[in-house]
Amino acid sequence: MPYIFGERAYMPLTSREIRKSFFDFFAQRGHSYVASSSLVIKDDPTLLFANAGMNQFKAVFLGDNRSAYKRVYNSQKCLRVSGKHNDLDEVGRDGHHHTFFEMLGNWSFGDYGKEEAIQWAWKLLTEVWKLPVERLFVTVHPDDHESAAIWRDKVGVASDRILKFSEENFWEMGAVGPCGPSTEIMYDTGDLKTQAESFCDPVAGINGQNERYIEIWNLVFIQYERLQDNTLRQLPQLHVDTGSGFERICAVIQKKSSNYDTDVFKPIIDAIASETGVAYRPDADGIPHRVIADHLRAVAFAIADGVSPGNEGRGYVIRRILRRACRYSHLLGHKGPLLCKLVKLLSTMMADVFPALSEQEDYIAQVIKAEEKRFLKTLSHGMDRLDKLMSANKDQTQKKIAGKDLFLLHDTYGFPVDLTEIIANERGFAVDLDGYRRYMSEQKDRARSHAKFSATLGQDEAWTVLSPGRDTDFVGYDTLEVQAAVTRVREDGDDIYVCLDKTPFYAEAGGQIGDSGLLCGNDIELRVEDTVKGFGLHIHRCRLISGLVNPNALQSLNAKVDIEKRFRIARHHSVTHLLHAALKEVLGNRVAQKGSWVGPDRLRFDFAFHRRLSTDEIESIEDIVNRQIQENVAIKTELMPLEEAKRSGAVALFGEAYSDPVRVLTMGDFSKELCGGTHAAATGDIGSFVILSEVSIAAGIRRIEAMASIAAFEYLRAQRETITALGKQLKCAPGGVLARVHELQEKKLAGEKELGVLRSRQRQALLNELLATKQSHNSLGYIVAQLDELSAEELSALAVDMLNSLNQLPELAVLCKSEGEGSRLIVVVGAPLQGQIKANEIAKKIFTELGGRGGGRADRAQGVIPKPITQKQLADLVVRIL
Ligand code: SER
Repeated sequence: MPYIFGERAYMPLTSREIRKSFFDFFAQRGHSYVASSSLVIKDDPTLLFANAGMNQFKAVFLGDNRSAYKRVYNSQKCLRVSGKHNDLDEVGRDGHHHTFFEMLGNWSFGDYGKEEAIQWAWKLLTEVWKLPVERLFVTVHPDDHESAAIWRDKVGVASDRILKFSEENFWEMGAVGPCGPSTEIMYDTGDLKTQAESFCDPVAGINGQNERYIEIWNLVFIQYERLQDNTLRQLPQLHVDTGSGFERICAVIQKKSSNYDTDVFKPIIDAIASETGVAYRPDADGIPHRVIADHLRAVAFAIADGVSPGNEGRGYVIRRILRRACRYSHLLGHKGPLLCKLVKLLSTMMADVFPALSEQEDYIAQVIKAEEKRFLKTLSHGMDRLDKLMSANKDQTQKKIAGKDLFLLHDTYGFPVDLTEIIANERGFAVDLDGYRRYMSEQKDRARSHAKFSATLGQDEAWTVLSPGRDTDFVGYDTLEVQAAVTRVREDGDDIYVCLDKTPFYAEAGGQIGDSGLLCGNDIELRVEDTVKGFGLHIHRCRLISGLVNPNALQSLNAKVDIEKRFRIARHHSVTHLLHAALKEVLGNRVAQKGSWVGPDRLRFDFAFHRRLSTDEIESIEDIVNRQIQENVAIKTELMPLEEAKRSGAVALFGEAYSDPVRVLTMGDFSKELCGGTHAAATGDIGSFVILSEVSIAAGIRRIEAMASIAAFEYLRAQRETITALGKQLKCAPGGVLARVHELQEKKLAGEKELGVLRSRQRQALLNELLATKQSHNSLGYIVAQLDELSAEELSALAVDMLNSLNQLPELAVLCKSEGEGSRLIVVVGAPLQGQIKANEIAKKIFTELGGRGGGRADRAQGVIPKPITQKQLADLVVRIL
């Protein structure tokens, strides 16, 4: 699209200067700077990523939190890739939408109102940045007469340039949360000659389906809170929330028709062109460059804020964005990882405002590289398979990839279904997504049922069904023993599977292992070894202790959980929550739980973190958890609607399927999580906590193993026993073990030193003795010595000393010691003689005569012969050889 400017002179500001001039403008008007929040908003599980500058002030707007400031400004990192604000599909197609972008903003928390906000925005745009007024328009909400009047009477905008829109001029953060009417400032990037006929046009004009008029500033007057039931609550005060897309502002100030042509993107676009060898074009051919440049920023900033590419929640969003970029680099014909090579450049460009990027530059590049490599492999395998599928089907009238094939591509090749869909569509193939989803859900069912539980448990025919229906009422939060009716039973070798109408047995879920215990009837006793969920059933896997498995005996059973084991599990589960909260306290909120396993004697907790923890950090975590245990706060559970739970700040694992309503588990002010597990009554019940190890289990994922309660005590006691035993062995008190070991090590070192000196003296004496036994043959001096009393090392050391003595002389020595059934030989030849005879040659001749193997150099050679030899025999042989 042509881009025509007015005649006014523009200041050629760089993006850095533009950002700074925004900051300065509001600083001069009594605003304080607040740094951008993380892309992962703390304590707001309603948002996957920060999508607006106001997110971090949500509580202030809602009146829950008093801010220290009344007026603030900043540049917020935003990611619009999910939920209400999602621009992913636009990226690359036009020049003004991004997944990641910076939003410049100024805020009033119940301080100034519409008049100042509107006038300042206009002043900055037209007087400081000198944007031509004839290119600017404003929009207001039809009910917001006050804003319309300010624009007209105070700012002097012509009435016909103030347009009214209902939907576009009511801004909401998400499905719930602060909101209010907005007034937007629009910029005309088109030909001024055609402006008059176009700006009111519903399609070609403002808020139409075109790129000519772009929004450059949004002023929201936060007056309401959108509630769960979709009604609006009036807030006690009016707040101002303004947002201006930084990249767009840069484009209009720098007179560029696309954000990608500004200095915010240009260096990255250039680097992509040079890495791939494909020149950038501003038209549709440039989509790959633009997508890669945009996605690079999204991925790098998200990783810097603690998100690792993964299979769930935020991690999955980032993985998909990164894979989308990889796919475009593949389209450009680029082989190998690309985005990781651009991280350094990006970090240099942004370091002054977003130091988190440069601080973690290497880590970010490494995570991206590993992910790119993995995906490129996937891509090439999956492409081969997909190519085969499509060429096999190419002659059919209805070109469609079957659900089963989509599933296999995903399951076997890791080829994401959305990618298959893009590629298939490009080649004119449809995809059977419903079929794919069916296969996926069957697979999930299979995975959910424990591996040791056969898949046939899902079929009714495999059971003796005593009463229809699959539901079991779980009563195990409140009681550990109950009289229950058997609903179905199945014998499978020694395993007996039983389902009950109600049960106190917890079935393995959320990392907590299943309960064990007893099921007793009139004539039967069963030991429950494990409890799991699968196929919609709550299954007790049992072994027969006494009686016979028949429907009569199984009518009604007393179901009794192993209390001791359950309590041990519960304490480990409760302490897992404390550990999670302590990890966040010590390592920062970015620590995301990746999995856990909770048993009666220990727990494992996996979390995303990029490095090993220091001893200090591990100790602080232990201290924090143990302090919480000593506080002995009540562990409370509460049932509430999922949304309410998330709003209350309860930690939820993204991607985890929670039932609604959910159980929210609270431990004082310290921990609040959604959890379906069973827990101790108060933190004091946990007793104690100790970390056993902290290791890496995958790129960016660490695992802590820990123990609580009696298990922790037993572990520490075993450690004490070891130290006590060591003390006994070392003849000191347990507390003195370390000092004693030190002392012994010192002694050992000194002893070794002394021994070394003695040995070398002894060797010297032996050497002198041997030199005295020298004989000669054909005027060559030679020594042959049989030294059985020396170790192999001493013999070698002697040979070295011997060589040093002989080096001045035209002489040689053959040293030998018996070893096992045979003999070890070393031949040394003095330097003056080496022109004539070489040690390795003599050794070779000896081996030829006597059998054996070995080798060496001109000065020294060694080897073993398979039989014993006397000194005399060896001497005769040496004379013969010489
Ligand atoms: N919250 C508004 C937006 O995101 C203004 O900052 O557009």
